[in-house]
Amino acid sequence: MPPARVHDAEISDHAAPSAAGRTWVFFRRWLANPLEMGSIVPSSPALGRRVAAAVRAGPAGAVIELGAGTGAITRAMLEGGIAPARLTVIEIVPEMASILRATYPGVTVLCGDAWQLPALLGAETRGRIGTVVCGIPLVLLPRARQRALVEAIEAVAPGRGFLHYTYCITSPLPARRLGLSGARIAWTPANFPPASVWRYAPLA
Ligand SMILES: C[S@@+](CC[C@H](N)C(=O)[O-])C[C@H]1O[C@@H](n2cnc3c(N)ncnc32)[C@H](O)[C@@H]1O
Repeated sequence: MPPARVHDAEISDHAAPSAAGRTWVFFRRWLANPLEMGSIVPSSPALGRRVAAAVRAGPAGAVIELGAGTGAITRAMLEGGIAPARLTVIEIVPEMASILRATYPGVTVLCGDAWQLPALLGAETRGRIGTVVCGIPLVLLPRARQRALVEAIEAVAPGRGFLHYTYCITSPLPARRLGLSGARIAWTPANFPPASVWRYAPLA
């Protein structure tokens, strides 16, 4: 099994790139692994604002972002008033984790696999999570893999569920089969492609 978290020494130092630089890195990663990236370009500020609004409307506590990429949603959450100290962002690609560290000082950046969430997060974060935001493309994953991520989130943030943004018109997850309720809470045409924000919560 791979280590849950890539050691800092394995991540090269990276200066904070420009917006064009971040988009280029994103596109390069999409060419390398389109299924893992799920998008050619980073999310738009409009989608980020919708996610930030949903986070603000949610409970207090730490905010965990899964699949932070080059930080489009991270940036929107910071601009939307979420304090950097509340944010822990997780990204599997070391180059992107390095960009996140250079670009968003004060935000905790973990380079690792979101499916290993309980091992990735320290005990001090595990007990105080308000909201989990998932940007990892889930729709095409096998049901068992979807279920494993739902369980990993439940293990660190019991009862909280998660927000998930997607280009799907209908729910990207078979909510009931995964023991979840699901509701589309926002949509924006100002994203490529147009995107929705879903809120999933464990069924009582
Ligand atoms: C659709 S992109 C979203 C990026 C960014 N949040 C945005 O909205 O522009 C999905 C991101 O999830 C990351 N990712 C995919 N699988 C992952 C995993 N198992 N653990 C952590 N991150 C993962 C990808 O590397 C990619 O950066």
